[in-house]
Amino acid sequence: MDLIIIEGGKKLNGTIDISGSKNASLPMMIASLLTKQTLELNNVPNLSDVETLKHLLRILGSEIVHNNRLVKIKTEKIIHTLAPYDLVRKMRASFWVLAPLIARFGSAEVSLPGGCAIGIRPINMYLKIMEKMNVSYAVENGYVKAKSKEGLRGSKITLDFQSVGCTHFFLMLAVLAKGDSSLENSACEPEVVALGRMLQKMGAKIEGLGTKRINITGVESLSGLSIQVPSDRIEAGTYAIALAMTGGQLKLNNINATEIDILIRALESTGVETYSSNNSISLERKNNPIHSTNIETAPYPGFPTDLQAQFMALMTLSNGVSRIKENIFENRFMHVQELARFGANIELEGDLAIVKGVKCLIAAPVMATDLRASASLIIAALAAKGTTSIRRIYHLDRGFEELEKKLNGCGADIKRIRDA
Ligand code: EPU
Repeated sequence: MDLIIIEGGKKLNGTIDISGSKNASLPMMIASLLTKQTLELNNVPNLSDVETLKHLLRILGSEIVHNNRLVKIKTEKIIHTLAPYDLVRKMRASFWVLAPLIARFGSAEVSLPGGCAIGIRPINMYLKIMEKMNVSYAVENGYVKAKSKEGLRGSKITLDFQSVGCTHFFLMLAVLAKGDSSLENSACEPEVVALGRMLQKMGAKIEGLGTKRINITGVESLSGLSIQVPSDRIEAGTYAIALAMTGGQLKLNNINATEIDILIRALESTGVETYSSNNSISLERKNNPIHSTNIETAPYPGFPTDLQAQFMALMTLSNGVSRIKENIFENRFMHVQELARFGANIELEGDLAIVKGVKCLIAAPVMATDLRASASLIIAALAAKGTTSIRRIYHLDRGFEELEKKLNGCGADIKRIRDA
């Protein structure tokens, strides 16, 4: 298994071009199953999650040409309607293929995604959406077996929680359902808006994207198109936090700064200076102390749970006490024990982490537990004194394109050792 070695204590200075968004690419690729025509996605990041999804789509019948960051998908015919455990367990988002398979083929069997390191992650709200839209299902042998005998029927649905995945799922079912549908308490994340806008351009009738109520009038069919995947706000946020930790000056290109507004404000309160322009942001930390700042994760436009671990790494070096509350996932603190190996002082009280800043972090061998947790270890290692080794970095490769190249280009010292 690959290993990452980081020589800490170097400031970051330079420019990073932010890649296309993983969490927008995945549902956009899945939605390609809704049409017989070709969907052309530009700016798709080269990540292992994208590879996993390509594999699954090919099994289902898609022809895919992937050239650099351009992915062309054509699914003239669905040839299989079963998404196997082996693929769905690798990546929860694969579960979402259930929606276009039902919409286009009328039935599907998709493995239950199961729990994962960050929480139990049940599927009760997905089942509710299917029930409301005239899809019968059984959960048997670890699979959801779904059928829509008389076709999808539009419906009024209210989510108990603003779930990103359930909003993607609803969009993909309702666009081809008979009649009108509405979703109350829908997620407003930019990735949901990206999927919705793409579906609109394919011919879907959707209103209310980016708000807590989405209305859809079903159409007969959707057409193909060529579209750009938006940039990855979580990748951008991760590098912004890394800069806040190491000090220096960083310019992040290809971003929409308003999408990480809440993070930028939190970083400013830690003492970072920021200057946003049209599609970039510059950040600078001088030699001032890192002021402790409290955060609480929430659905968009709240503080993203996908940046909580990284922000916690930053707070380990603050000049006070920071309170970090996780409101989205019930077990997203796996990084705490690894950050403690650097000498961080963090106490957990249920969904609250109390981080008491220490003077310095000392390098240590650590292990990544999930994708965003691995990013927090990278950030801690960049600021720690000495040489850190990080194991299980396949987690990192799921979501960060060319991380070593990007950080080394700004003065970091990161090496990957293959097959360690
Ligand atoms: N939930 C239920 N029942 C359901 C569905 C969700 O209780 O039927 C709960 C979840 O267990 C969780 C909460 O609702 O506690 C929110 O989960 P959500 O459905 O919004 O998450 P998701 O769609 O599974 C996506 C991202 C995650 C990101 C979350 C929250 C992708 C591929 N995944 O997951 O990204 O953390 O939204 O913003 O888009 C990551 O990229 O590292 C990652 C985990």
